[in-house]
Amino acid sequence: METVLSGIRSTGNLHLGNYFGAMRNFLKMQHEHHCFFFIADYHSLTTHPTPEDLHRNVKQVLVEYLAAGIDPEVATLYIQSDVPQVAELYLLLNMNAYMGELERCTSFKEKIRKHPDNINAGLLTYPVLMAADIIIHRATKVPVGKDQEQHLEMARTFANRFNRLYKVDYFPEPYAYHFEGELVKMPGLDGSTKMGKSEGAGNAIFLADEPSVIRKKVMRAVTDSGPGEPGAPMSQGVENLFNLMKVLSGGDTHTYFLDQYKNGSIRYGDMKKQLAEDIIAFTTPLRERILELSADEAYLSKVAKMGAEKARESAGKTVKEVRNIIGFKPF
Ligand code: TRP
Repeated sequence: METVLSGIRSTGNLHLGNYFGAMRNFLKMQHEHHCFFFIADYHSLTTHPTPEDLHRNVKQVLVEYLAAGIDPEVATLYIQSDVPQVAELYLLLNMNAYMGELERCTSFKEKIRKHPDNINAGLLTYPVLMAADIIIHRATKVPVGKDQEQHLEMARTFANRFNRLYKVDYFPEPYAYHFEGELVKMPGLDGSTKMGKSEGAGNAIFLADEPSVIRKKVMRAVTDSGPGEPGAPMSQGVENLFNLMKVLSGGDTHTYFLDQYKNGSIRYGDMKKQLAEDIIAFTTPLRERILELSADEAYLSKVAKMGAEKARESAGKTVKEVRNIIGFKPF
């Protein structure tokens, strides 16, 4: 049993790509490992220092994780800012994080290019806060995408440096956790091979999308002018629709339309109508659960409190030991 920790951006509404990708693995993992899932709301301030909708965004993520099936009794599901110990460990780690290594970080360089008017110290020390998030629970496995590999490497650097500086073997090294063969890759609707939030409107179908929105997105999905000569390669857009269909409509429907494609009689409009209804059938129970949970403030408050308590207990233990290791001693 390993300690797994996953940090969730507070602006990331779940789409089908997330659901069939990481989420389904999380649902399984929560029963096999000691799992922490947290919403990174401190981090969001590095780029949005005066958010209007911070609470609403955090609530949406919390609700969607619960709706998708994260069990707050089994896993520890919490909000980063509910755990002040994270801020303390961040402060302590900052003393041993060097300007040079932080300035060289790819995500920092990217952010100063994108937001030249707001290059703040929080942005520079983003990887330190992320390291604190991880090592505060002494997590060893961190499910992240490729874009977070460097941050994880920095977390290992800070953990190892702490051990070396204070001559202890306290923090284990955290490693990226890839789901390997277990990921179902969801294509986008805009002809790109990946469903993603940042790929542009209409590319992704969100779990919370209304049926009318889903129909509109699917009907507008990229296709081509027809199957072409027998044996000609399928265009990416059409291949994407078939791949979505395989997952969401099932094998029979997939085969039915694929046969039509092969004999040239397919009408993409009919295929899209079918796909849209199958997606709606799949997402409707999830959307309904999202709406139900959103209205249940008492339950959300209970979940947040329970998560905060479990996370603070784990984090508090670490910070106490860290203070002791560094040399802060109670009188
Ligand atoms: N940086 C991560 C992202 O942008 C979010 C994050 C913050 C995180 N702290 C973390 C991820 C700790 C894993 C572990 O997606």
